[in-house]
Amino acid sequence: MSVVILGIESSCDDTSAAIVRDGILLSNVIASQQVHEEYGGVVPELASRAHQQNIVPVVDAAIKRAGIDRSELSAIAFTRGPGLIGSLLVGTSFAKGLSLGLRIPIIDVNHLHGHVLAHFVRQQPDDRVPEFPYLCLLISGGNSQLIMVRGYNDMEILGRTIDDAAGEAFDKCAKVMGLPYPGGPHIDRLAAEGDPKRFKFARPHITGLDYSFSGLKTSFLYTLRDGLRANPDFIEENKADLAASLQSTIIAILLDKLEKAVKQTGVRTVAIGGGVSANSGVRAAVADFCQQYGIEAFIPERKFTTDNAAMVAIAGYFKYLDKQFCPYDLAPYARVEI
Ligand code: KG4
Repeated sequence: MSVVILGIESSCDDTSAAIVRDGILLSNVIASQQVHEEYGGVVPELASRAHQQNIVPVVDAAIKRAGIDRSELSAIAFTRGPGLIGSLLVGTSFAKGLSLGLRIPIIDVNHLHGHVLAHFVRQQPDDRVPEFPYLCLLISGGNSQLIMVRGYNDMEILGRTIDDAAGEAFDKCAKVMGLPYPGGPHIDRLAAEGDPKRFKFARPHITGLDYSFSGLKTSFLYTLRDGLRANPDFIEENKADLAASLQSTIIAILLDKLEKAVKQTGVRTVAIGGGVSANSGVRAAVADFCQQYGIEAFIPERKFTTDNAAMVAIAGYFKYLDKQFCPYDLAPYARVEI
């Protein structure tokens, strides 16, 4: 009998539902919340309300687009954390209610596991997937981690950021440049027309495989301050070069530790995941790096880089195969690691 999993993602500002049958994606519906744009960041209270509005139509659409009946569902996987508690509560409570109604089990999914396992979302049975063990560079708005992935449910963090995440570095620097939230995609767009060598920003000198982006952020701010003192139109006149130089510094920081981790572990496969893996420069740099080292690269389709329920459904599918269900008294968590 086939295994059909409904995945639900509501950890931040995207309400998403997806259906996976025997590991093959049948549908993936995402309702992104525009309400936060004017505030320059996600407003948790507004996010929870928007999830509450979206959750029923989004799940309904995922089931319809998959062409299945809800009676065919084997289990419901939901993101338990990390994320915004109010947002997570919407998905968690909905999953519990639906599972009681349909008399099927629930499976809690760590959001970060989802990003790591996004590479196993097959759209066709013969789609290429990574072989274990592999190294995953997980770069999102809240995390920058180097993860050793030994199995679907067996992962170890080798390095993490000690301050800001790569996505925060993009977003915070973009914000001071006056760009809309989230700034990452705007920096990406502007960087394509700029000179990446024009400005020099600080790079961290920390040992091991941990990351740090706060020094870069501070030096970016100093460059803007000094530039604006000399010329009030400094940002406007130099935005492409600023974006290109910022992006290339973030990439250099990311690749430096990735290279170290590859040398230390001897892995033959590298994958990237999380919102920042949508960045054109990051994608090209990781592809070049892997080619140079003769190792296999897994770069996700852009639609699987940001938050989506397909990754939650696939992570839930592998937990289902291991019979890892969760009890009904389980609550979401805001912060947790792999
Ligand atoms: O994984 P994600 O959707 O959310 C979580 O953090 O959970 O990642 C969002 C982050 C934001 O910081 C956003 O600016 C960044 O991903 N991002 C990008 C690009 N697209 C999204 N950063 C740089 N270039 C992009 N093209």
